[in-house]
Amino acid sequence: MLDLFSHAIDQARTEITHLRAELEQHNHRYYVLDDPTISDAEYDQLFRNLQALEAQYPELLTPDSPTQRVGSKPVSAFAEVQHRTAMLSLNNAFSDGEVLAFDARIREALGVDEVEYAVEPKFDGLAITLTYQNGVFVQGATRGDGATGEEVTENLRTVRAIPLRLDAPSPLTIEPAPTPVRPELVEGQGTSSVHASTAHASTGSARAVDFLEVRGEVLMFKADFAKLNAAQQDKGEKAFANPRNAAAGSLRQLDSRITAKRRLSFFAYGVGLCDGAILPTQHAAQMAWLKTLGLPVTDLCRVVRGAQGLLDYYRDIGEQRASLPFDIDGVVYKVNDLAQQAQLGFVSRAPRWAIAHKFPAEEAETTLLAIDVQVGRTGAITPVARLSPVQVGGVVVTNATLHNEDEIRRKDIHIGDTVIVRRAGDVIPEVARVVLEKRPADAVQFVMPTHCECGAHLAKQADEAVWRCTGGLSCAAQRKEALRHFASRRAMNIEGLGDKLVEQLVDEARIHTPADIYTLSLDALITLPRMGEKSAQNLLAAIAHSRATTLARFIFALGIRNVGESTAKDLAQHFGTLDALLEANFDRLQQVRDVGPIVAQSMVDFLAENHNRAVIDQLRQHVAWQEQTVAEHLPLSGLTFVLTGTLPTLTRDEAKAKLEALGAKVSGSVSKKTHYVVAGEDAGSKLEKAQALGVAVLDEAGLVGMLSGGNLE
Ligand code: IVH
Repeated sequence: MLDLFSHAIDQARTEITHLRAELEQHNHRYYVLDDPTISDAEYDQLFRNLQALEAQYPELLTPDSPTQRVGSKPVSAFAEVQHRTAMLSLNNAFSDGEVLAFDARIREALGVDEVEYAVEPKFDGLAITLTYQNGVFVQGATRGDGATGEEVTENLRTVRAIPLRLDAPSPLTIEPAPTPVRPELVEGQGTSSVHASTAHASTGSARAVDFLEVRGEVLMFKADFAKLNAAQQDKGEKAFANPRNAAAGSLRQLDSRITAKRRLSFFAYGVGLCDGAILPTQHAAQMAWLKTLGLPVTDLCRVVRGAQGLLDYYRDIGEQRASLPFDIDGVVYKVNDLAQQAQLGFVSRAPRWAIAHKFPAEEAETTLLAIDVQVGRTGAITPVARLSPVQVGGVVVTNATLHNEDEIRRKDIHIGDTVIVRRAGDVIPEVARVVLEKRPADAVQFVMPTHCECGAHLAKQADEAVWRCTGGLSCAAQRKEALRHFASRRAMNIEGLGDKLVEQLVDEARIHTPADIYTLSLDALITLPRMGEKSAQNLLAAIAHSRATTLARFIFALGIRNVGESTAKDLAQHFGTLDALLEANFDRLQQVRDVGPIVAQSMVDFLAENHNRAVIDQLRQHVAWQEQTVAEHLPLSGLTFVLTGTLPTLTRDEAKAKLEALGAKVSGSVSKKTHYVVAGEDAGSKLEKAQALGVAVLDEAGLVGMLSGGNLE
């Protein structure tokens, strides 16, 4: 009995190890390489399989499991962390002249004619340090004052780009012996502590680095920032000023479950203390080495020579800046060779061997001419500043968001004021602050209108900052926004049905609800101003094309408050059919992953409106998707099997059919991703490979046991 149990737990352990490695690999592909190889649904299935196993064997649950990325219970304060090596800052250069002087100082100090530099973007986020022990992420901390930071391990665990377990480095870079001494406290970046290691025979299996500190930056991608702010605004909560503030606010949450919902990212840019590895002796090579461990390192890093190389890089990255997916505020130049770095040393808290070359701020001064209000798809009213045109970060800006009435008050913005406009990448420009000294005598205070342009009055909930139009779908402005959203790329993806056309169609009363889009005729379209027959035909083709969609897109397209793209996907996956979703009540909705009371209430409110139900009914006559009956978690789903050799009674096809009926995938070749190899007589290389990779091997009896355990009949 005991034996059976220990066999079961051994099997569970193997499977858990496989699932974790597989999930982390998909995380890396998705969040770091931006190149996923499985669908979200497949990922979720693997995730649930792991959760189920961990629930069954709680003793096997460890903090490095991908299931632990969802956050844990709140803490009352962050603990202090004493950094083992100081987290330094960088001196800044703002002009080419300062860069030339930096290079000249270094050449002089080193007594060389030309210096090789590693050059990198300067990420606009927060510096952190990650500690890995034997390859497992054990602690993360903010920079703080450089000597003492705050422990934010649980929050960092939720950042998908941060590996919870590092890949083993190439055997060439690992010190052969288990290290007998404690890490020495060595100043500086990337100093591998040296110790007398006794040569040990290699065990053949890859060994993790004993101890590694990784320095890098936590940041929020522009797209994630935009989504977060849209959601904040929808909820009537404060919008963040820029991605850096959003990243900082998210990282410093005492409740890591909140951090888990914010999409933070991470890039490594240095090594702190390292023990048990033979580190490359050049900075760029160290970064490449970190990459081999699975750490995200931007591929914007280069190695250049001399001051001209630095300035060329600065221009090159400057040109790419606006189109990069994350904010940078400059570039960083580092002497590439670590021996040269050591020779140069530090002045106070900054290294002599590095400098940050900053970009000019993306801010500009202009006049605020007027404040208009815009009506959003859910009726939210956003005040917008009309500005005297001004160049900000290479783009002419004429409008800027003022977020909401409270923000206008808080920033004390008057019409006629001289204001500072800020733009960060593709984020909507905003009015950062007023230049009070320049306020003209005739500047006027903004008064929030009491009514929407549709005539309905505006209302505000006591705990919200946002005013909303009460007109619902009788408000043309809301209808336009709802239709724009419905047709947008990530919703029904109707190419050609852009802002202008929606405006015309609504103004000319051709369409009222999204369902009307599907009844538009060629005759009706070509009577519109500036609409030729060809464009009309293209539009009709795009509309026809959108008829075949997915349930997730359809739900997202409905434009339900607080139901974004990923929630829509979760809802579609959970309920499988539209009918199931329409029948769900508040409690059922809350059973969906990531759906809490706010989203559930939004759904309930939306579905309680008869006109919304009516639109859904009409739309169902025009659009279609593959309905899924939610496969009630098949017992072997998420598991991959490989069959090899001749089984005593089952043919290969029979075994395959039985496995697939229980949700398993049957693959032809063995890899790290294989969960089980079923081996019969004369099993050849596949069995050997399974043994080499440590994949569990079953015989027919084992397979049959597993199939019957799965209640097939
Ligand atoms: S290296 C000893 N590299 O800049 C050098 N820092 O002012 C330590 N930063 O707190 C820093 N991108 O938050 C380095 N590629 C990069 C960076 C970078 C952004 C930030 C970091 C640090 C600040 C220093």
